[in-house]
Amino acid sequence: MILVTGGAGYIGSHTCVELLNAGKEIVVLDNFANSSRKSLERVLQISRKPFAVVEGDIRDQAVLEKTLKDFGCTAVIHFAGLKSVLESVNSPLDYYDNNVIGSHRLLRAMQTSGVKRMIFSSSATVYGDPKFLPYTEDHPLNPVNPYGRTKLIVEEMLRDLSASDPTWSIGILRYFNPIGAHESGLIGEDPKGVPNNLLPFVAQVAVGRRERLNIWGNDYDTADGTGVRDYIHVVDLAQGHVAALKSLEQTGCFALNLGTGRGNSVLEVVKAFEQASGKPIPYDMRPRRSGDIASCYAATDRATRYLGGWRATRDIETMCRDHWRWQSQNPNGYAG
Ligand code: NAD
Ligand code: WQD
Repeated sequence: MILVTGGAGYIGSHTCVELLNAGKEIVVLDNFANSSRKSLERVLQISRKPFAVVEGDIRDQAVLEKTLKDFGCTAVIHFAGLKSVLESVNSPLDYYDNNVIGSHRLLRAMQTSGVKRMIFSSSATVYGDPKFLPYTEDHPLNPVNPYGRTKLIVEEMLRDLSASDPTWSIGILRYFNPIGAHESGLIGEDPKGVPNNLLPFVAQVAVGRRERLNIWGNDYDTADGTGVRDYIHVVDLAQGHVAALKSLEQTGCFALNLGTGRGNSVLEVVKAFEQASGKPIPYDMRPRRSGDIASCYAATDRATRYLGGWRATRDIETMCRDHWRWQSQNPNGYAG
């Protein structure tokens, strides 16, 4: 039995589908701070496999211990946390509380329950300004915002824990830019308020919820001047977690990039989305967004080696097509 914290969220819900498809038993623990119960109903609809749900907070050690015990969990996939860079700059204490203290309580509950296998959602944000590209896992770690620092602190906590007790098995997965949705169009990303990230914003323009996209900077040192990122299909990412679970059969602590190894510019993404949706995406060129870098993409060979040959296979056209199917079938997300 696998405990999936934050399993109702964007990446968590897609991973639940892949875990259930792979025949795993799961229990989801989520406080629904940034998600809806509907996503879990849809996970059931897609997988047709029932699973348990606990409404609870990762900062509540007692509920964690009870859940680990009652369900006989042997591993945890830990997605729960807050993820907005901008919000973390404005409310850093909320981010340290949720992401750092929450992860600490979870690890403590696992320790007291004798559950010593974890996969942790980290982020390419831990690398900070690139000293070289692609980012390898050995690139210096120097996050430039509070959100990224919470991820780095948890990573360090995990490395220290593994060093102190070598019977733990810990996989740290550093995601690049997850986009897209399950091919059914039943689950997808459903951000609250005005999206900060590119794809949800573009999709909301295409569906008529927003008028125009702002492109933050066209004077970067990239082929067309706009920012380049390593976009990875959320289903590829979810399947990477299933592969990582297998790697937990060995003890120790590893950190892996989950990306495609390829970069796409903002303008390339906009064009791909226009083609996928058949809708125009009007945009305005704006000054650079503070904190952004020109380019970011992953070295992927270590992940493929550790994860038994796993690699991201879906291209940017598929990502945009699947993202659009979700957005067009659910113009207001899970709110209906
Ligand atoms: P999400 O917000 O959709 O999902 C996070 C889930 O955790 C939500 O369902 C939320 O309700 C839940 N949650 C938050 N705080 C909680 C708490 N204290 N107790 C219980 N549940 C709680 O985000 P996502 O995009 O699915 O991201 C999942 C993880 O991956 C996060 O840790 C995020 O930092 C990390 N990550 C995301 C991205 C990205 O671009 N989406 C990139 C790199 C890393
Ligand atoms: C992508 C590109 C923008 C919005 C963030 C977090 C990172 C990770 C993923 C969690 C950039 C441009 C964007 C818009 C635009 N999350 N853009 N107009 O900044 O690479 O990464 O999400 O871990 O930690 O920092 O993603 O989608 O915001 O931006 O022009 O309205 O799109 O400038 O070049 P980013 P993003």
